[in-house]
Amino acid sequence: MSKKIILTGDRPTGKLHLGHYVGSLRERVRLQNSNEYDEIYIMIADAQALTDHAGTPAAVRENIFEVALDYLGVGLDPQRSTIFIQSQLPQLFELTTYYMNLVTVSRLERNPTVKAEIAQKGFETSIPAGFLCYPVSQAADITAFDATTVPVGEDQTPMLEQTREIVRKFNDVYGGGQSILIEPDILLPSSDVCKRLPGLDGKAKMSKTLGNAIYLSDEADVVAQKVQTMYTDPTHIKVSDPGHVEGNVVFTYLDAFCSDTATVTEMKEHYQRGGLGDVKVKKYLIEVLEETLEPIRRRRKAYEHRPDEVMSMLRTGTTKARNKAAEVLARVKRSMKINYFD
Ligand code: TRP
Repeated sequence: MSKKIILTGDRPTGKLHLGHYVGSLRERVRLQNSNEYDEIYIMIADAQALTDHAGTPAAVRENIFEVALDYLGVGLDPQRSTIFIQSQLPQLFELTTYYMNLVTVSRLERNPTVKAEIAQKGFETSIPAGFLCYPVSQAADITAFDATTVPVGEDQTPMLEQTREIVRKFNDVYGGGQSILIEPDILLPSSDVCKRLPGLDGKAKMSKTLGNAIYLSDEADVVAQKVQTMYTDPTHIKVSDPGHVEGNVVFTYLDAFCSDTATVTEMKEHYQRGGLGDVKVKKYLIEVLEETLEPIRRRRKAYEHRPDEVMSMLRTGTTKARNKAAEVLARVKRSMKINYFD
């Protein structure tokens, strides 16, 4: 039987927040603990972060540590999930170079996520070539581990499509009827709320740039304060007024975080009838969030005080990942007949 292998990761451009948690981290931990996978690789994508942060490498470096703490905090276990740093695997960049020949510039320009990012960053007239090509590098990240499953948020769907295209093209050109590379499947969060958690302000997406995020590392009082500022229903003025739950961020978060769905349903009904105030719902949400966040915060802090242990975990994971990628690269080069000295 062929192996089941997971590869996924995050750009270290900041600490991870609740959007990352419900969109991907929670699922990763569940998959890790399900013992259904033969190998799991979790990559800190610093080289990808540099494609749009070339001028601030010190920040990227600092965030590698923060993201590692977030991983350990949510319960990723280095014994079962290999956590590594992308830039330390030259194999990934060799693969990228070869894949680049199989992709057209116009195809890259059509990638909807890249397009949205270009607009958001104001790159229109000066797109860094590395940025435009990061989906190719992402195909290298995935295929270098023979990944079969890539658990990610919905915004990564175009990357997976592009990866699958590259795999098919590669196998077609160099495979001689054989599958040299494995075509991966995307694994999206099961519920719509978790696919795209809105920000505190009700904007479509929780993000560092928009300043509307709750971080996994936020202290309890900060979380409570942020929940107080959450967007609810502007037409719900008096407690007795009937309120709306659609687009009401507090209820959206309850849907994403509260396992007691009966209580949430009851609260929604009460709110819609009138007579349930925002203060009460927010208070309940704070309790619900703390159930998730308290243990994460505690574990995260414990590791924060043991930085040497965290760095050594990253070093071990990176060595292991490099060995795996080297095997796959050797296979790729053989298939391309560029193994002159074998
Ligand atoms: N693009 C992902 C992000 O923005 C990070 C990433 C890089 C990734 N390479 C990957 C995710 C490979 C999954 C698989 O966070």
